[in-house]
Amino acid sequence: VRAICLFVLAILVGHSSCQDDEFLYDTFPEGFMWGSATSAYQIEGAWDQDGKGESIWDRFVHDDVPHIVDGSTGDVACDSYNLYQEDVALLKNLGVSFYRFSLSWSRLIPSGDLRHGFNQAGIDYYNNLINELLANGIQPAVTLYHWDLPQGLQEHGGWLNVSVTDRFAEYSDFAFLFFGDRVKTWFTINEPWVQAVQGHGFGDFAPGINQSGILDYQAGHNLILAHARAWHIYDGKYRPTQGGRIGFNMYTSFLEPKTDNPDDVFAAERAMQFLIGWFGHPVYSQDGDYPAVMKEFVAFHSAEEGFPESRLPQFTPEEIAYVKGTYDFFGLNHYTTMLAENGLFPYAPSYIRDGEIIPSFNESWPESAAIWLRVVPWGFRKVLNWVSNEYNGVPIFVTENGYADSPDQIDDVDRVNYYTSYINEMLKAIKLDGVNVIGYTAWSLIDNFEWTAGYTERFGLYHVDFNDPLRPRTPKSSAAFYKQVIADNGFPA
Ligand code: NOJ
Repeated sequence: VRAICLFVLAILVGHSSCQDDEFLYDTFPEGFMWGSATSAYQIEGAWDQDGKGESIWDRFVHDDVPHIVDGSTGDVACDSYNLYQEDVALLKNLGVSFYRFSLSWSRLIPSGDLRHGFNQAGIDYYNNLINELLANGIQPAVTLYHWDLPQGLQEHGGWLNVSVTDRFAEYSDFAFLFFGDRVKTWFTINEPWVQAVQGHGFGDFAPGINQSGILDYQAGHNLILAHARAWHIYDGKYRPTQGGRIGFNMYTSFLEPKTDNPDDVFAAERAMQFLIGWFGHPVYSQDGDYPAVMKEFVAFHSAEEGFPESRLPQFTPEEIAYVKGTYDFFGLNHYTTMLAENGLFPYAPSYIRDGEIIPSFNESWPESAAIWLRVVPWGFRKVLNWVSNEYNGVPIFVTENGYADSPDQIDDVDRVNYYTSYINEMLKAIKLDGVNVIGYTAWSLIDNFEWTAGYTERFGLYHVDFNDPLRPRTPKSSAAFYKQVIADNGFPA
């Protein structure tokens, strides 16, 4: 078996790990960081309290057209705006070393544009949260943008107007100035792929724009430029005195070829480039540009459809130089794996159509409550290897990983099994494959508003009772499990 594995390893660069089901009893490197995560819109509630401005998600959930399966909103959510001390107590109980949460841009700058003023109550709220964390020995790790663009900026075109990058730069500068004395880990933009594709391609997420293959690429372009602006401001103006680190968070899946036919193997690699490389290649590769295969395939399809030029925007040489290398680590969100087959799927979203990819699941992979999430632990190890190989051994910070079940499961055995196997595959990537993973983040600390799924899918280590106005939190079995993993720093023999 070992010989076959080595042989396969030699051929499939980037697919360098053999699937092996054996559990690895070992511990993580000393200093490995364990944490948990949430985002502002999903937990805070208080959507219009104390001077907060409206965001695109506030607008989206209040729309006359229903977008959320259970008709719910994040108006109150977990009420973490008022109950943040309870959240910190849960984190303390888990024994995590950091908490990843996001700032609500429109809570701090209600219109999104600093020239129209800021909201002191918002600054106070995040100061209180950060200070409460530090008082409990937990490092704050802050996401600047987790999809809740101020509605005021949407009125000017939002992510489709390049001026949003100026507004994001000013907002980031503001955040570093007010919180950077205590926040040493920053994330610029969470899952730009989802913001581009679901917000501007499918339109199932706010702001609900659906011009797949055109506006998703344009939004994506500005998201990359905005990320680079924030990185440079931090690097030039704040890092010298504040001394922290800052990076991007990528949505990743692993795409396994459906068959070993070379056409499918190539399709799977293209799918990785359309999914991860779209945002990863400009920032993390030596080229500082979109992946060559993506440029080639989008240009080809655009020409076939009669467009005068590629639907994929182009970076200028100055932008390439500006964007390239804007990272201190690779923030990696990971949940699932898919199969990829070579072929045309004309009515599918841009990346599938332009990439000539037919995605599917292997029916034997266990389902979760989320239709897009199947349990495929070995895919996690493979994606860690892929990113590490593709981007020259970049330090990887796993900034999300988690499992969806149906509401109100306190003895959440399926989540415990998911975490056990996924964390073990990450351990294999580190110990057996030499991938440089520096930390891990369980999504999510508490049950929360799962975007268009509302409260029908749950990701929390802690249960939240959304029928009770006090929003009580109760530990699930997975909280006890994760606490033990952290205490042991892995799975000692
Ligand atoms: C990724 C997103 O960042 C987060 O907001 C979401 O809840 C989880 N995936 C689960 O879908």
